[in-house]
Amino acid sequence: MTATENVAAGLPVATFTDAMSRLVSGLAVVTTRQGNGRPCGLLVSSICSYSVDPPSVLVVVDHASRCCEPLTLSAEFGVHVLGSAQERTARTFASRGADKFADVVWAWDGSVPRLCAAPIYLRCTTSAVMDHGDHTVLIGEVTRAEVQEAEPLVFYRRLFDWGLRRNGVRQL
Ligand SMILES: Cc1cc2nc3c(=O)[nH]c(=O)nc-3n(C[C@H](O)[C@H](O)[C@H](O)COP(=O)(O)O)c2cc1C
Repeated sequence: MTATENVAAGLPVATFTDAMSRLVSGLAVVTTRQGNGRPCGLLVSSICSYSVDPPSVLVVVDHASRCCEPLTLSAEFGVHVLGSAQERTARTFASRGADKFADVVWAWDGSVPRLCAAPIYLRCTTSAVMDHGDHTVLIGEVTRAEVQEAEPLVFYRRLFDWGLRRNGVRQL
């Protein structure tokens, strides 16, 4: 099996996931309000800038996520790009805990649950939803952006805590 074989030709999942693990990503918590009025949120690495005009971001959500349906039904969602100090928050929102919001400081920003400690906060209006395979692509138009200086939380080679200042210390 070579690295140039593609998925359509039957690429093994492990080959694909190993290749993708070498893509450096930031991590963000995406939140919204559920139909019952309660907040929900999940950790994503699949977040990127989509366009400047209009200012938009793209997020990809697994159909298996409990947040997937609320996100596709909501008019708004929040994106919280995490700093290196929020590794615990990242782990909480990557879990399927009963109340992920119990141990974080948060507040409603309109219909968006806002995590107060995240250094980058984007309030988004849902502008496009596309189902493909086992995931849904969401495009959100950014209506508010707040930024504080912080070292980013970097995900690389399946490590949550790939601190930029520490990366020379890690053994690959
Ligand atoms: C590093 C990392 C990145 C992740 N990225 C995504 C992602 O981009 N999209 C997604 O749907 N799930 C992603 N997940 C998985 C969800 O965070 C996880 O399934 C979570 O439990 C979903 O919670 P929920 O069922 O309460 O929505 C990621 C998990 C980790 C650990």
